[in-house]
Amino acid sequence: MEIKIIRPRARSDESKTGTITEKGEVTPGKALTIFTGLEKKKEKACGMDGDNNEKISEILGELDDLIGLQTVKKLIYEIRAFVEIQRRRQQEKLISEPMTLHMIFKGNPGTGKTTVARIIGRLFKEMNILSKGHLVEVERADLVGEYIGHTAQKTRDQLKKSFGGILFIDEAYSLARGGEKDFGKEAIDVLVKAMEDHKDNLILILAGYKAEMNDFIKTNPGLKSRFPIHIDFPDYSVRELLEIAKLMLTKRQYTLSPAAGEALKRVLELQTGKGNEHSGNARLVRNLIEKAIRKQAVRLINKKEITREDLIQITEEDVEEAREQLLRAYYRQYQL
Ligand SMILES: Nc1ncnc2c1ncn2[C@@H]1O[C@H](COP(=O)(O)OP(=O)(O)O)[C@@H](O)[C@H]1O
Ligand SMILES: [Mg+2]
Repeated sequence: MEIKIIRPRARSDESKTGTITEKGEVTPGKALTIFTGLEKKKEKACGMDGDNNEKISEILGELDDLIGLQTVKKLIYEIRAFVEIQRRRQQEKLISEPMTLHMIFKGNPGTGKTTVARIIGRLFKEMNILSKGHLVEVERADLVGEYIGHTAQKTRDQLKKSFGGILFIDEAYSLARGGEKDFGKEAIDVLVKAMEDHKDNLILILAGYKAEMNDFIKTNPGLKSRFPIHIDFPDYSVRELLEIAKLMLTKRQYTLSPAAGEALKRVLELQTGKGNEHSGNARLVRNLIEKAIRKQAVRLINKKEITREDLIQITEEDVEEAREQLLRAYYRQYQL
């Protein structure tokens, strides 16, 4: 896999494309400047103690603790280093690279897009790129209204909430689906304008399925230069999903019995793999675990003596019952 950082276009025809390979090597494009308003802000924070390094390490530690996502983690480390070094170069009055940090996240549901976006927001706050670093997560219905003027108002309201942080638009391509007359287009226009007007304190992340997102970018060429950072979120392997399950349970002070672990593995093997883009990845795991915790409670409530061990352990039976209930709901939702 290759992750591309495409720099904003200048007027000349030089290639502005820099590439980061999987190994983490950076092949810079030829672009030099075109600064965004972000710089002014950073200049203020240029002092050696401008950043809160302890907090930054803590946040990067949280990123590290996520299971898998190696390429995503590497890219975020790179973005962090890149921003920091450009800032130092500025201090030394050296030419610095452009710093457009809007992003596109591609991946199936439950692959960690929202989780990573939240971490990036907090990281950027500590790096003084964003003043608040919070995440406002929206979808088409939050932006698009029902009559003329309604959409601009709704979109502006969401933008207002996200100033100082990240506006995360899930299934962003649905804004472009309805054609010329659709209000989605109006929402896009308002968003683009806000990106220009508030570029020093707002980051947009467009997220969604990979194929749909690629089409969206292809049919809207302006997006490529406005969203230079593209991150792919691959589906998790069964092994990773099991690790995620264990992590989620440990955090809640539960454990899986060995048989429950096997049962969970069987469910995950059945639910993942090709053609299962609705399977839910880590979200399926979370739902299974939350259901299993409830099933355990029901199983225990009428037991005469409940030991500490009982309270902690999730059994095979709990997992099986959780699976049945959940799959029924899933099949209904996707009419499988
Ligand atoms: N790599 C991971 N390690 C641990 N937990 C994860 C990981 N990826 C996702 N999760 C958890 O799975 C759930 C769904 O993730 P989310 O970020 O909402 O996915 P998406 O936004 O891609 O649909 C969340 O509860 C999140 O904490
Ligand atoms: Mg999400």
